Amino acid sequence: MVDELDPMLPYLHQVRLIDRQHRRLFELIASLEKGESVMSAISSLDSYVDRHFRVEEEIMETLEYPDREAHLREHDQFRSKVAHLRGGEEGAFAVSASAVRYLRRWLQVHIGGTDRGLCEFIKKEGI
Ligand SMILES: [Fe+2]
Ligand SMILES: [Fe+2]
Repeated sequence: MVDELDPMLPYLHQVRLIDRQHRRLFELIASLEKGESVMSAISSLDSYVDRHFRVEEEIMETLEYPDREAHLREHDQFRSKVAHLRGGEEGAFAVSASAVRYLRRWLQVHIGGTDRGLCEFIKKEGI
């Protein structure tokens, strides 16, 4: 049953595993926004994003998804942003409010658009 008040509604594509992972990604962004345990939050985001992107990337490969290359480029862009925020340089660890806004916005645009296209394709392929 669809919950009309669910803030995730615009980002749900009726592909259960992917929707569940997207929901979790937004929760991780929300914990970054709260600013508590930022280091562990960014590290959880990093590993969860990797897990999620691998799921989508394996599906795209299996289904020979036509927009795969462009989709992968978007994933890599997010991966490098998160890796950068984890801080390569000693003492450089800082997640600014604008960086967190960027992550949320990226997720909204990617999940609302790029992933929507993939999920439509998955449903059409009947898996
Ligand atoms: Fe994606
Ligand atoms: Fe996704």
